[in-house]
Amino acid sequence: MEDKNHTRRKRYSGSYPKKFSEKYKEQNPNKYIDTIEKVMSKGNTPAGMHRPIMVEEILSFFDIQPHEIGIDLTIGFGGHSKEMLEKLNHTGHLHGIDQDPLELPKTKERLESYGFTASDFTLHQINFKDLDQINEKGFDFILADLGVSSMQLDDPQRGFTFR
Ligand SMILES: C[S@@+](CC[C@H](N)C(=O)[O-])C[C@H]1O[C@@H](n2cnc3c(N)ncnc32)[C@H](O)[C@@H]1O
Repeated sequence: MEDKNHTRRKRYSGSYPKKFSEKYKEQNPNKYIDTIEKVMSKGNTPAGMHRPIMVEEILSFFDIQPHEIGIDLTIGFGGHSKEMLEKLNHTGHLHGIDQDPLELPKTKERLESYGFTASDFTLHQINFKDLDQINEKGFDFILADLGVSSMQLDDPQRGFTFR
């Protein structure tokens, strides 16, 4: 039977889409894994994604041990947090802060898709200056990756630009 939900992909000129709205493959990383790998192999960041920086250096500096309590003050896409949660290996707890109301729910879903649950992490949509709202006695490790995330700049609807 014909799929009534089928819609034609957006048309774009040239071999590759240039506008954010046309990069539907990059915005569906689970469906178009090959496209994501191709873009990343060229050293680029796929639209709607963010690549964490200095992951090895950060993990080596923190030397995270089981049962530690940590906080990512700028969780963003969750790239660093995913790696830190893997080090905790379902022990301890990781808090994640970001004041972006659109990206934070997506990051929660992403971390859950890797098998992490509410017992592993808690997300807080607050400004990191209000860190004292979080009910912990202290933290074993604190990450602050200051700035903005690529996906915030990619999407013109968000209103941030450097062009
Ligand atoms: C460079 S990105 C972090 C990327 C993240 N480490 C990752 O691996 O995906 C910085 C993030 O900090 C958030 N941010 C910036 N200023 C903030 C503030 N004052 N309070 C909370 N979040 C903030 C931004 O929304 C952005 O998502």
